[in-house]
Amino acid sequence: MDPQEFFALFGAGRRPDPYPHYRRWRERYPVAELAERMFAVSGLGEATQVLRDPAFGHPEPEYLDPADRLPDQPVDESGRVVRAFLSLNPPDHTRLRRLVAKAFTPRMVERLTPRIEEITASLVDRAPAGFDLMTSLAKPLPVEVIAELLGVPLDDRERFAEWSHAMARALDPPFLQHPDSVEPAVRARQSFVRYFRSLAQERRREPGEDLLSALVAVSDAGDVLSEGELLVTLTLLLIAGHETTTNLIGNGVLALLRHDGVGAAAPERVVEETLRYDSPVQLTARTALRDTALGEVKVPAGSQAIVLIGAANRDPSTGGDVFDPSRTPGRHLAFGQGIHFCLGAPLARLEGRIVFRELARRLPKLRLAGDPEWNATTTLRGLATLPVVAS
Ligand code: HEM
Repeated sequence: MDPQEFFALFGAGRRPDPYPHYRRWRERYPVAELAERMFAVSGLGEATQVLRDPAFGHPEPEYLDPADRLPDQPVDESGRVVRAFLSLNPPDHTRLRRLVAKAFTPRMVERLTPRIEEITASLVDRAPAGFDLMTSLAKPLPVEVIAELLGVPLDDRERFAEWSHAMARALDPPFLQHPDSVEPAVRARQSFVRYFRSLAQERRREPGEDLLSALVAVSDAGDVLSEGELLVTLTLLLIAGHETTTNLIGNGVLALLRHDGVGAAAPERVVEETLRYDSPVQLTARTALRDTALGEVKVPAGSQAIVLIGAANRDPSTGGDVFDPSRTPGRHLAFGQGIHFCLGAPLARLEGRIVFRELARRLPKLRLAGDPEWNATTTLRGLATLPVVAS
């Protein structure tokens, strides 16, 4: 097998519809050895195993020489880079996730419902007859909501969107990354850390009702988030919760408009079918922490496994390549599986439900007004523009 064939799956020309290529790849190579200690996993069963099996995890955080540290980069007392719990293994992952889950509760998400409805309604009502759905709705809504959740002042939200986009571009694995995306991402990360450091100090002095205040205050039997952990967690929440949700909205509206229109199915089913059919997060990766196997294929310790979420989700047993928002939702990997299952899934689902419901109610005749354009990123799959008309 030629690894170039794998890289070609993500070529610019295939961006509008990579799925027929994914299908052929998945049928031939549910587990592919791309190079020594480098595997691509696209079979639904095998991909689920990688995400659930403790034999797979993340490499240990690296020690950084003080001379090599970036300004403002959080490090722990032994000089290791502080990483967000998304890329940590138990027991660090368990401890941090539990602390954050204590602050980021279902009640806190539930409480956002009227605000999300209000923001959605005002964005939809403000849109002219013909508009770009990404600019008018899918991009501003999630950033407003996450800023609301964290308690970020209104005036700072523009800067937020910019930093977050710069960091999202750098999420792609090295073989897919554009060299121009690295520098802005590093700068954006530094800006975030500086920004949150001063905002956290304010909340410490004067706590509010928001998640940031709750995170500052959180403690679990004497266990507290260190300053570095707090800062990387805030950055994670922002990155993880922003462009992903934008893409759920954009990919979902596009699929609906190419199907039966925005009013054709129950909003909660549209959310699940969009997640499966056109996953906002297409790739993730793990490292084999010991010698293991995926079916017949031996996977030595230290191997990288790239999990093709977008390809695995098109398994014929869960609906294959057919978009059917009326189907009973089946299993999908769009929010991951196992211990790293998306902590923000209830919020993402809530936002998606409200948007699809409000569009059906307020703009029932919405239709496409031209060809959409796709972003150049692969890990996060979503639209740059989605031209529509309201009647
Ligand atoms: C983890 C997808 C929205 C916060 C994940 C993972 C996926 C994912 C696939 C697991 C990655 C892996 O195992 O390597 C999505 C999608 C979203 C979404 C498709 C929207 C449609 C959100 C939101 C938030 C959020 C709104 C928070 C505000 C997180 C966090 C993790 C995570 C904190 C790490 C969990 C852990 O490591 O234990 N998400 N996400 N996500 N997501 Fe989301």
